Formats: sequence, C-alpha cells, structure tokens
Amino acid sequence: MSDGSSFYITTPIFYVNDVPHIGHAYTEVAADVLARWHRQSGEDAWLLTGTDEHGQKILRTATANGVTPKEWADRLVETAWKPLLATVDIQNDDFIRTTDERHEVNAQKFLQHLFDAGHIYTGEYEGFYCVGCEEYKQPSDLIDGVGDYAGQQVCAIHSIPCELLHEKNYFFRMSTFGDQLLALYEENPNFVQPESARNEVISFVKQGLSDLSISRSSFDWGIKVPWDDSHVVYVWFDALLNYITAAGYGHDDEKFSRLWPATHVVGKDILRFHAVIWPAMLLAAGIEVPRQVFGHGWLLVGGEKMSKSKLTGIAPSQITDTFGSDAFRYYFMRAISFGQDGSFSWEDLSARYQSELANGFGNLASRVIAMVVRYCDGEIPAGSEFSEADELIRGTEKRVTDAATLAISHLAIHEAIAAIWELVDDLNGYITAQEPWALAKDPANRARLEAVLATAVRGLGTLAVLLSPVVPQATAKLWTALGGTGLVSDQRIDRAWEWTGRPRVTPLEALFPRIEATVG
Ligand code: ME8
Ligand code: MG
Repeated sequence: MSDGSSFYITTPIFYVNDVPHIGHAYTEVAADVLARWHRQSGEDAWLLTGTDEHGQKILRTATANGVTPKEWADRLVETAWKPLLATVDIQNDDFIRTTDERHEVNAQKFLQHLFDAGHIYTGEYEGFYCVGCEEYKQPSDLIDGVGDYAGQQVCAIHSIPCELLHEKNYFFRMSTFGDQLLALYEENPNFVQPESARNEVISFVKQGLSDLSISRSSFDWGIKVPWDDSHVVYVWFDALLNYITAAGYGHDDEKFSRLWPATHVVGKDILRFHAVIWPAMLLAAGIEVPRQVFGHGWLLVGGEKMSKSKLTGIAPSQITDTFGSDAFRYYFMRAISFGQDGSFSWEDLSARYQSELANGFGNLASRVIAMVVRYCDGEIPAGSEFSEADELIRGTEKRVTDAATLAISHLAIHEAIAAIWELVDDLNGYITAQEPWALAKDPANRARLEAVLATAVRGLGTLAVLLSPVVPQATAKLWTALGGTGLVSDQRIDRAWEWTGRPRVTPLEALFPRIEATVG
C-alpha cells in the first residue's frame, strides 16, 4: 500500500527503573494512532519505541533490588515494557534498548565524530543533580520542599532534594548553537509544537545556552566514552541517540536515509532535551534535524502529574482488563486535547464508554447490520432513488474524511476523532428520522427502505476505515461483518468515503458490551 514517502515516528524510550503507568501508555497510543493513520494514507510509516536503561537511576534501583543493572533491565523489559505494547495494541516496527549492541557501538561512533570535530572539551562542573530527571538543575528549576523536605530546595518535578555534585567531565559546546537553533525555530514554525511548547523553547534558548556535561565518572553503568574509558556517556546524550541508531545511523546508510528525519512525540517534561539539546547534537554532527518535536500534556491525578515516584500511577491493564484496549485508546485520544494536560477519571471513562462507544457507535453498527439481515436476508441493497437526506449523509462522509485528514496533518488527534464522530451522530439521527423499521412494514416502501439501508451501510464502512487507527479491534470486527475485502487497516483512509459496500453482511456481536461491574 506504500507510495514510498516515509513517515518515521518515535515515542520517548522509557526508563526501566519501574513499570509503566497510563502516562506512558498514553504516549504510546498517540504515536501508534498517528503511525497507523499514515500507514493507511499510503506512506511507509515506521514506529519506534523502546527503553532507556543506563544511568544512575537504573543502577540504584537494580542495586537496591540486589541484581545487576542489566539483569534488572532485562526483567523489566520482558515483564513490563514489552507487554505494555500488547496491552494497548501498539503496532511498533522496532523496539530499541540502549543496551543493544547496535545502539552502543553507533552511539560511540557519533561521540567520536563530535570529539574529532572539536565540539567536545574537558572541564569541571559543580551543580545540583536530580537523579529522577537525570539532569543538572539550575537554581531557578528548584522549589521549596514540603513535609520531610521542608526547609530544603527540591526538584520541581520529583519533589525530592537534588545532590550537589562536583566532577571532571567532558563537555559538549552546546552554547555555540543558540543562533542556529533560533533560526531553525523561526524558519520552521512547526519544528516544535504545540505553540505553547514552541514559545517556551524559544524563550529558553534566547536566555543563552550553557555547554552540556556529557560524561560521568563516579559510576560505570553506561556507554564508555570511546577515547577515555574511565567515563561513561551522560544518560540523556546516550538516550537521544536511539532515534538514529535504531534507524541505521553508522551501520545501515540506505535505511537511515530512507527513514530520517523523524517526528518525535514526547511528554512536555522532556521537551527541552528534544527541542534544544537533540537538534544541537545533530547540527554539530552535520545530520539533518528532526522533522518535528511534539510535546504533549500530562495526565494529572489530583491536579498533579501522574507519576510512579509519587505513587499516583495507574497501571494500563487496570483499565484495559475491564474496558478493553480499544476503549483505552479511544478515551485518551478523544477526551484530552492532544498537547494539553488532562485529568483521568473512572467516571468520565465509564460515561464516554457507555454513551459514545456502546450507544453511539456500537449500537449503530449492530442495528444497521441486524436490519439488513432481517429485511434483506443479509444482502446489502444497492439502493436507488436517493433522497436529499441520503445525499446529505454522503456529503458528511466526504466532509469528515477531509476534516480528519487535515486535523491529523497537524497532530490534532482529538479534532480528527471529533470530526469523525459527526458522522456517527448524523447516521444515528438519520436512522431515527428515516425509520427503516416502519418502512419495512409496507412493501410499497421497498425502494425507500433499500436506499436507507444502502446509505447506512456505506456510512458504516466509512466509519470502519476512519476509526481503524483509533479502535483497531472493533473496526476489524465491523469490517468483517460488512463483508469488506482485505483488512480494514489496509484501506486508504483519505478515501474512506468512497467505500460502497459488498454483497452481504454477516451478524455482528456487540462491539462494546455493557459493563456491569463497578470499577475504580
Ligand atoms: O524521560 N502524563 O523516560 P520516562 C503523560 N528515559 N505522559 C507521561 C506521564 C504523565 N503523567 N508520565 C510519563 C524519560 N509520561 C527518558 C526519555 S527519550 C530519548 C528518553 C510519558 O520513563 C511522557 O511521554 O520518565 C513522558 O515524556 C515520558 O513518559 C517520560 O518517561
Ligand atoms: Mg520521568
């Protein structure tokens, strides 16, 4: 189905110090919806995800658990991070671990290249380091602690005190790239999105950039600095390189030139690493900068960023065990404007599941298919003598297909779903107004009945194709019931409205069954 143009999209690679919560699943789902959408647009879409396994945070967790860091990482990757992908139905093309040889070897090549080109020097540094963030903090990044830490300055993200470190390190001359970065943001306004993220990054860079400490020598869990094995590479410098080492940098030039540059989807907590440090590293190496960095908002619990370190994390399976992976995907993509923060609540999830998925979409599909079975022996009527109401539905199909495609082009996933839902609502209104069950009572209305059912079936086919990236399980079932040929996920999404229906329907089980148990 590919027309050759490539769409390379990435998630952050996640720390393996702990198991995933719904914040991590949220990023995975967003990137997966975009990848599936682009795949269905005929592009050569490639989704990368993976794990960030070096650094002090992982080392300390492993030590506290009495195992080596590699053993710890292996355990978490196999029991938690790879299973997450199945839990929320991610179709990733690759999974990179920073302990993979392909990563370590080629990250070293990158570093050596920067060193040879004069972008790295030896220096000394003293500052406050947050192990939670794996980052040196400026005094302005710290806030007053509360509770156990009252009277101390703590990390604004992790609410724990930072450690005062003094080290001899290697430094990257990041300060020399400020003007080039500002020119990049200026010339390519889409480089950092959404707008709020872009503004934050620009004002940060305008204040002037410091050089970046890129090695550590007080512990050894990391990639060795190639010219000095008493140092390991700073974990963020190591981690960012995953996006190119996975894409073939240093070992598969053909693949690399086909895939790169990427669209990076990240949480806003790590925006600066991706929108400032990462493009500066690439500029220094003479490699094209990313296509785009999109910083999405946070899932909040009690008004604060959901996090494992604050024990507010909810496991994705707590939701999917009851509601299924489709509902998880739909809920977070629909209820939160992509780019803004959002609060999760079980009540909101249950309410949307019932009204939008079960009653709005699921019932529509079941009713229409049941009527074709009942009134037409399962044969989808061709229909003729279409009325103005029928034509309006056809018009809506085309309109929402175009609107959703446009929304996705600027990563407004919530807007795309809202546009598609106009067709769900219009079709429900149409069925209510046309009353096919009443038409079926009088043979004189046969032509009208057939026109209505033909129109409704065509609308359902359009919905199946358009919603496939968001709710892949339900739409696959619907597509089968509609007699669609091939996989729904292989249908061109930008031409969803053109689908005209196949000879016969087959019965459809409830797409979103009633959920009886109370949850939460
Ligand atoms: O930062 N709401 O890894 P990490 C929304 N290893 N998204 C959330 C979230 C929340 N409450 N909590 C976490 C790292 N996330 C580095 C990345 S990339 C080269 C290295 C998601 O395990 C969101 O995508 O701390 C956030 O940016 C990411 O998890 C941080 O994951
Ligand atoms: Mg984090």
